[in-house]
Amino acid sequence: MPARQATSLPDIKPQTPVGALDRNAWSQRDEQFTADDVAPLVGMSITFIRKVVGHRGPLSVSDVLLLLDQDAYSETFLRRSQVLDFLTQSTPDSATDSEIEVETHTLVSGSVTDVLDRLAPASVQCVVTSTPYWGMRIYDDSTLVTWADGETCAYGHEQTPEGFVRHTVQILWQLRRALTPDASVWWNLMDSYNTRTQIRGNAIEALLAMQGKDGRKWNEHEARRHSAGHSYLKDGEQCMIPARVAERASRIGYHVRSVITWAKQSSLPEPQNSRVSRGLEYVLHLAPKRTPKFDKSAYRRIQPALGGRSIGYESDKLSDVWVLPTSSGGNGHGAQFPVALPGRCIALSTDPGDVVLDPFVGSGNAGVAARALDRKFIGIDVSPKYLATAEEKISAVPGSGFEAAATERPVDNAHQDLPMTGVD
Ligand SMILES: C[S@@+](CC[C@H](N)C(=O)[O-])C[C@H]1O[C@@H](n2cnc3c(N)ncnc32)[C@H](O)[C@@H]1O
Repeated sequence: MPARQATSLPDIKPQTPVGALDRNAWSQRDEQFTADDVAPLVGMSITFIRKVVGHRGPLSVSDVLLLLDQDAYSETFLRRSQVLDFLTQSTPDSATDSEIEVETHTLVSGSVTDVLDRLAPASVQCVVTSTPYWGMRIYDDSTLVTWADGETCAYGHEQTPEGFVRHTVQILWQLRRALTPDASVWWNLMDSYNTRTQIRGNAIEALLAMQGKDGRKWNEHEARRHSAGHSYLKDGEQCMIPARVAERASRIGYHVRSVITWAKQSSLPEPQNSRVSRGLEYVLHLAPKRTPKFDKSAYRRIQPALGGRSIGYESDKLSDVWVLPTSSGGNGHGAQFPVALPGRCIALSTDPGDVVLDPFVGSGNAGVAARALDRKFIGIDVSPKYLATAEEKISAVPGSGFEAAATERPVDNAHQDLPMTGVD
C-alpha cells in the first residue's frame, strides 16, 4: 500500500457507503485459511472461532462465512464484505525494502503503513504516539494512503469516523509483528464531533476563528468537514472514536490494560452552549499480553518534566487520570504532546536500552523523552519538515542514564499554560 503525496485535501462528507457481503458468490470457493489469520478480521478469539466452526483444522470459506454471520462478529479494520477478499488476495512482496537499523535514535520518512513492515520482528518494547485525530488538523506534507479497506486519503481525513477507526486499527494490527511479547502500546487520541467545520492547522487558528478574527469565507479554507449523510450520527454528536478503537484493539488480540484520561491543565474555550467544554484526551494502554513489563514506581522517581508526578495536581498514587500540561507547541508543528506524556509511558514500561517507537513522531517529543531516559528510539513521519525538527531536538538531548535523567536533566516544560495540542 504505497503512499503518495497529496496536492490538496478533499472535503470530508461523512456519507456512509451502502454495501453488503455477497454470500452466493463466495459459497462456490474452496480456499483455506489459518485461524490466526482469520481471528483479527472477524474480531473473535481463536477459542471462540473453534467453538463456532466445531473443529481445529484450517478454516474453509464456508467456515469464514459462518463467522461473518455470528451475532458475535464485529468489524475490525475491514468491512464485513471485504474480509474474504482480503484473505484470498496475494500479499505484496516487501522483501526489497531494507530492515530498519536501530541506532540511539533513527528517524524514518514515509507513511507508517509502509514503514512498519520494515521493523525487525519482536524488536519494539514500547510504542508511544499521538496520531492525527479525525477531521481536526491539516499537517504539512499531507500524504495520501491507500488503506486495506480501499479508501485513499490522508490519515485523519477519512470520509467517515468509521474509516478513521478502521485505519487506526489497521496500524495497530500492522504493529503487532514488531512488538516484543511484553511490550506496551500507549495510544494518545481524542474524540471528534460530527459537525460542519473548517479544518485548521493548529489550535491558535481555531482560537482566532472563535474570536471572529479569521477573515476567510467557508470556501476559502483548504479543507472542510460536513456533517450530513452518516448512517446514524446526527449533526453535533460526539463520535466515540477512542472507545471504538479500544474495543477493536481488543478484538484483534491486544489486552486493553487501561483507558487513561489525560486531564489537560489548560484547554481552549469553546463557543458551544448546549454541552460542556472538552478538557481531556485519552491514552489507551494496550499490550500483547496481560502482564507487560511495568515499573509503577518510576512515576515517583522521575522528574515531572519527564512524566513524574505533577506536583499540586496529582497524588502519590498513579491512577488512570493523568493531570499533565499541554505542549507549548512551537517549532512549526501544531499538535504536539508534552514531553511529560511520552516520558511517563516510557519510564513505566521500558528499561534503559530498550527500543521505543513513535510512528507519528511529528516534532519529536517522544524521542526527546526516550533519549533523556536513555532508551533507543525510532520515529516515523510522512513530513520531512517535521522530521528535520525532530532530528534537531532529539540530537540535542545527551542521553546519559536513567537515574541522571530522573534527577538532573532539565527538559523544557516552561509553557504549560499555553493550549496547543489536539484541540479544534
Ligand atoms: C499529532 S501529530 C504528532 C505530534 C507529536 N506527538 C509531537 O509531539 O510533535 C501527528 C503526526 O502524524 C503525521 N502523519 C500523518 N499521517 C501519517 C502517516 N500516514 N504516516 C506517518 N506519519 C503520519 C503528521 O505529519 C503529524 O506530524
